[in-house]
Amino acid sequence: MSCTQCAGIAQEFDARVARRDLRRYRKRGASKTTTWLLDMVVGEGARGATFLDVGGGVGALQHGLVRAGASAGIHVDASPAYLAAAREEAVRLGHADRIRSFEGDFVTLAAEIEPVDVVTLDRVICCYPDMDALVDASASRARRIYGLVFPRERLLLRVGGRLLNLVQHIRRRPFNVYLHPLQAVEAQVERHGLLKRFHRTSFLWHVQVYTRNPARQRGT
Ligand SMILES: C[S@@+](CC[C@H](N)C(=O)[O-])C[C@H]1O[C@@H](n2cnc3c(N)ncnc32)[C@H](O)[C@@H]1O
Repeated sequence: MSCTQCAGIAQEFDARVARRDLRRYRKRGASKTTTWLLDMVVGEGARGATFLDVGGGVGALQHGLVRAGASAGIHVDASPAYLAAAREEAVRLGHADRIRSFEGDFVTLAAEIEPVDVVTLDRVICCYPDMDALVDASASRARRIYGLVFPRERLLLRVGGRLLNLVQHIRRRPFNVYLHPLQAVEAQVERHGLLKRFHRTSFLWHVQVYTRNPARQRGT
């Protein structure tokens, strides 16, 4: 990722946004699509699993995975404010010792991150211009399960995304959003030997889970 987009992410997802999202999470729990993703992953067998949550925000997915019996995890995030909020919540819930945090662009950091059982990117691909590189770096770390939430190419989102990027440009803010086509994302994931197990859509989002060996996973 260009440093400009990096800086843009930290600016966009700042302390104010992180506090708001943490408050919302504490009040209402995980969003609908995060809950779908969590249920799909847990259905594939999360007990005892290690996980990597790229761009985990306030950590809704991570807290859910630990609650479902995951043994330990890694949170990589380009937003220091989100990392701090996720950690604060992990401390409150009593599992901070199970989650390691790394700050920065995951694609740049990926070589330092060991493979894990479960890798998730919940609404992260749309923040990143080079989808191929992000999927390559993350899918190659997934030993068993790979989960994604990313936006659908609906007219509303195409127009909304362009408008948002235009406003960002006018306000001289570097953060942009990206709508990567479904077929391109799927093809890139499948290059890593991952097979699609679940695909559910909400009005705005694709929620997908891939596994390396579905026949074996089903019994776990
Ligand atoms: C829209 S937020 C989603 C947060 C959370 N997963 C959720 O669904 O509520 C996007 C997240 O992805 C992170 N992010 C985007 N690109 C990233 C990258 N290349 N490396 C690490 N984190 C990234 C942002 O910092 C932010 O935490």
